[in-house]
Amino acid sequence: MNRQIVLRQRPRGAIDESTTELVVRAEPTCGPDEALIKVAMLSIDPTIRTWMNDAPGYLPPIEIGAPVRSTGAGVVVASNSTRYQVGDVVVGMTNWQEWVIANEEHRFSVIPRDIGLDLATVLNVLGVTGLTAYFGLLDVGRFQAGDVVVVSAAAGATGSAVGQIARARGAARVIGVAGGPRKCDEAVSWYGFDSCLDHREPDLEGRLRAASPNGVDLYFDNVGGAVLDAALASIAMHGRVVLCGAISQYNESGRPRGVANTPMLIMRRASMSGFIVLDFAARFGEAQAVLVAMVRDGTLRHREHLINGLERAPEALNLLFAGANHGKTLVVVDEGIALA
Ligand SMILES: NC(=O)c1ccc[n+]([C@@H]2O[C@H](COP(=O)([O-])OP(=O)(O)OC[C@H]3O[C@@H](n4cnc5c(N)ncnc54)[C@H](OP(=O)(O)O)[C@@H]3O)[C@@H](O)[C@H]2O)c1
Repeated sequence: MNRQIVLRQRPRGAIDESTTELVVRAEPTCGPDEALIKVAMLSIDPTIRTWMNDAPGYLPPIEIGAPVRSTGAGVVVASNSTRYQVGDVVVGMTNWQEWVIANEEHRFSVIPRDIGLDLATVLNVLGVTGLTAYFGLLDVGRFQAGDVVVVSAAAGATGSAVGQIARARGAARVIGVAGGPRKCDEAVSWYGFDSCLDHREPDLEGRLRAASPNGVDLYFDNVGGAVLDAALASIAMHGRVVLCGAISQYNESGRPRGVANTPMLIMRRASMSGFIVLDFAARFGEAQAVLVAMVRDGTLRHREHLINGLERAPEALNLLFAGANHGKTLVVVDEGIALA
């Protein structure tokens, strides 16, 4: 049987027990040119919440009754396809379920067995998270050695990688913004940020200005809202703002919060660009080679927050919005499947 978590109704605000439903459907069978994949692990990404809305986005909304869309990893257990061998460990759109079919329209990437990383690390550093950090910082943000860089959600999956890549490439200062003293301490002592500001404390704008007296050359925004506004106030001449995510807004059911400090982009001749990591798909291999090397030489530290059980995927998604995750949030669907 195939246990799936399907979208039952579109949420207003945070998802709750009425949003999704655990259903049991027949296990899929693989037809010609198809492979059957047993799902091992799910990547829990804030954007899943945006896909639940009936609103324009970069992908169509998840249909009511369909399994919740999600990337993940699994192992090939049967194959009629020349692309996949039984035993291959693969990553791709698994969705929130135990079994998934790979075919020409729905392709997965095969992870080399000798990669020397465990599955959770692969989903974190080589998956959407690491790729987003790499392309967002270097290509969209046009990072340059000597930049003063500010990163929000600094102890989170994407933010922690952004900070470390900036540090490794010669940033003048890497300043984090995170929620609470524990995460701020983690950003500095574990991920190597120069300093970290708690966005829950008052006057973030003033504290950011004090921490970057000559301005912020590159602000990597993972959260939007009030933190984005505070960072705009400190943008340096010809500074760059990378709009990666706006998690502070995803659970809002009304209009998104506006930002007041956009005139600073004019005063400082600065630019602000949004991006979606999928735009860089043709270059994922290039980034993965760099990221694997950084993990191996210890310049890219990573943490995974594992939650056991498919049925806990909705709870795992909500952790992100409460700031209760520590590192990349992953749901283990089948703990018997391993890469290394
Ligand atoms: N553009 C793309 O292609 C792309 C791809 C991947 C991810 N993203 C975006 O990147 C961002 C980070 O994703 P992630 O997977 O790495 O998650 P994450 O940073 O590991 O976890 C999310 C973090 O966001 C912070 N947060 C939650 N609500 C907040 C609020 N109201 N105000 C300020 N901070 C808040 C919390 O950190 P604190 O406890 O420190 O507040 C939380 O731990 C998300 O916005 C996501 O949508 C974009």
